[in-house]
Order: sequence, then structure tokens, then C-alpha cells
Amino acid sequence: MNVAVPREIVAGEQRVALVPESVKRLKKADDIEILVEAGAGERASFSDQEYTEAGARVVPDAGTLWAEADLVVKIQRPLVEQGNDEAAGLRAGAGLVCMLQPALNTELVKRLADGKITAFSLDALPRITRAQAMDVLSSMSTVAGYKSVLLAAAAQGKFFPMLVTAAGTIPPLKVLILGAGVAGLQAIATARRLGAVVEAFDVRPAAKEQVESLGARFLTAEAVEAEGAGGYARELSEEQHKRELELIHEHIKHADTVITTALIPGRPAPLLITEPMVNDMHAGSVIVDLAAEMGGNCELTEKDRDVVRDGVTIMGPVNLPATMPVHASQMFSRNVTAFLNLLIKDGGLNLDFDDEIIRDTCITHDGNVLHQPTKQAIEGGSEG
Ligand code: NAI
Repeated sequence: MNVAVPREIVAGEQRVALVPESVKRLKKADDIEILVEAGAGERASFSDQEYTEAGARVVPDAGTLWAEADLVVKIQRPLVEQGNDEAAGLRAGAGLVCMLQPALNTELVKRLADGKITAFSLDALPRITRAQAMDVLSSMSTVAGYKSVLLAAAAQGKFFPMLVTAAGTIPPLKVLILGAGVAGLQAIATARRLGAVVEAFDVRPAAKEQVESLGARFLTAEAVEAEGAGGYARELSEEQHKRELELIHEHIKHADTVITTALIPGRPAPLLITEPMVNDMHAGSVIVDLAAEMGGNCELTEKDRDVVRDGVTIMGPVNLPATMPVHASQMFSRNVTAFLNLLIKDGGLNLDFDDEIIRDTCITHDGNVLHQPTKQAIEGGSEG
């Protein structure tokens, strides 16, 4: 079976789906050949020579690669806009593994089904223990959480740690983290390592213990709890949302840096920072809104831009994992290798739909859309 790794063509994407270390591991199975497009790993510092040494065959161009592929493994979904048509390169019956985000890309899903592609979406993996080694969402959130703090630190006019110097004592920076899932917890850990004093809030009560174990203070507001299906958050009632905003408003006034990561599956990002709150922040403060792609947690966020309002900088970065391509590729690659170990059996695809991991991730097969997560399905987690 030919497993093919293309060079990513989405603007700014520097990661590669399989790194040489994983090629070596996958090649242990005699019936797998790995094809890598020339230059695929270049921006993540993996050379063609390293792929060749690991046992891959480097293919000179994308056209040859996609045409020879039995299974294409990539990070971004195939690009079918801006004059590109990656999906057209796949032949009928071939497989595709990527971050498809099927609920947001219904046209592409239909096209893949029409083209008789068997497409797997890694973002649809169930959050179960057996799938943890494959969990690209957690890996990429880890990268984003870490990098968000570094972005904030670089944009700050202040030190993060407390410093006792001959020029006097400098107090530690105050950081507020909103949303303490995978990205938020990594942001807390990173800000703590830099020496900041950290407060955090999440609507899932389970987050309290995790936040406190990282040395941060968990903020609580009476009855603002909203744990939904599959361990994810659900939307707050109007009254709860009002109470949450009051709590944030009270604490944001004293924060130098705010990192927001709050997301609700299948919904726009919840609004946690209003314009009046930004107005009450002191000049020089920085907000990094990791929910920018889903509409943002801050009312003033603009996707992929830095906005400055009365001295407060609001950053809305998208795809931060692409800015740390070496480790982000390595983590993605290890996750995808664990997935391929389940998916590939005896030189073919193991389409065992009784397996929850295969069933949830397989979006199209044999001309059909098998599993188009609707809003309800997303809210219901893997049971949906
Ligand atoms: P996410 O990216 O969907 O959301 C980020 C955070 O925002 C979540 O912690 C969520 O509770 C929070 N949030 C949503 N609305 C909010 C609001 N109004 N105010 C404040 N915070 C709000 O979450 P992520 O990081 O994907 O994690 C989701 C869940 O999955 C967590 O419970 C996590 O522990 C769990 N998980 C389980 C894994 C497993 O394999 N068992 C692996 C990874 C995560």
C-alpha cells in the first residue's frame, strides 16, 4: 500500500504530516511504501535526504504523488479554492486522512464522497482513552497554548517574573486564562514557568483541580457550571452568562495578559470579553484570543490580526501550531502513526465500523457520506 505525504499548500502552513522518525516506524510493515513529495518537510526542518534514509521514496511533484497514492496523509484538508484543486488529484477508491472538519466543510465532504474517496477526519476522533495516542486536537492545542503565552510575553512591555534587582523590585505579571481545556492548561503551565501569577476560569468544574495543580488560582462564580456531553462544555444560560461576565470583568481590570481559549463544539466561540471590559483594562495589557477562528472570545478580536484599542493589544492568531512546525509536526506525526497502526491491516484499509475510532472518523466511503456530524451530533460527542 502506498501511503503518500504531500507538501502542504495552505498559506502559512509549515507542518508536515509524517516526519522521518514515523516513516521508519511505519516501514516496519513490509506491505507499506511511503511516498513523500519533494520538499514536504523542508519548512519543518526535515530534509528529503532524511526521508530517503528513513525508507521513504521522494516523489518530485504533487501530481505524481496524489496519482500514485492509495492513502494520502496530510494536515490540512485538500484545498479546493484559490485556483487549487488538491482533491481532484485523488483517484477513486483512494483514502485520505487529515483534519477535515466535516461539519464546517460540507461541500468538500460531498465532493470526496462523489469521488469515491474514503476520507477520515482526525478532528472527529472520540475523546476516549484508547484514542489518546492519536489525539491531534490535544497535541495541537498544547502547541497553541504554549505559543500564545510567548506571543503575549513578546508583545508585553513588562517582565513576567518577579525580579529583585539593584534597580528595585519588579512585581510578577498577572495573567488571566479563560477556558482551561488542553490549550488553557498549557498556557497556565507556560505562564507559571515564566514566573507570572495566574488566575483561570472554566465552566467545567473538573477544571478546578487541574488549574490548581499547576499553581494557578481557579475563579469561581456561583452556579456558573456547564459540563455537557463527552466532557465538553455546553452553552451557558443567559443568567449564567451574565454572572460569568461579571466575574471576568472584576478580574480582567487587574490582568496584564489575558489568554482566552473557550470553545463549545459546534457553536461560535462564547463571548467572554466585551468592549467595556477592554476599556477598563490598563494600557499595555495584551489579550491573545485563541478562539479567533471560531469568532473569538473577545468582542474586539479580528481573525489573524492585532488590534490596538486605547493601548490594549488584542491578538487573534489562527493556526499557531504551524508557527512551531518541528515539534507540532512531530506530535501530529506520532498521533497519525498510532491512527495508521489501527487503520492499515494486511496492506489495506481496516474498515471495521464496529470500532468506535474507525466509525467516528470515517466520513466518506464508497460514494456515501457516512457520518456528517450535525450540530446535535457534535454536541453529543462521540455518541452522536
Ligand atoms: P475545547 O477546546 O472544546 O474548549 C476549551 C475550553 O473552553 C474547555 O475547557 C471548555 O470547558 C471551556 N469553555 C467553554 N465555554 C466556556 C465559557 N463560557 N467560559 C469559560 N470556559 C469555557 O476543549 P478541549 O481542550 O478540547 O477539552 C475538552 C474536554 O475534553 C476536556 O474535558 C478535556 O479534559 C477532555 N479531553 C479528554 C481527552 C481524553 O482522551 N480523554 C483528551 C483531551 C481532552
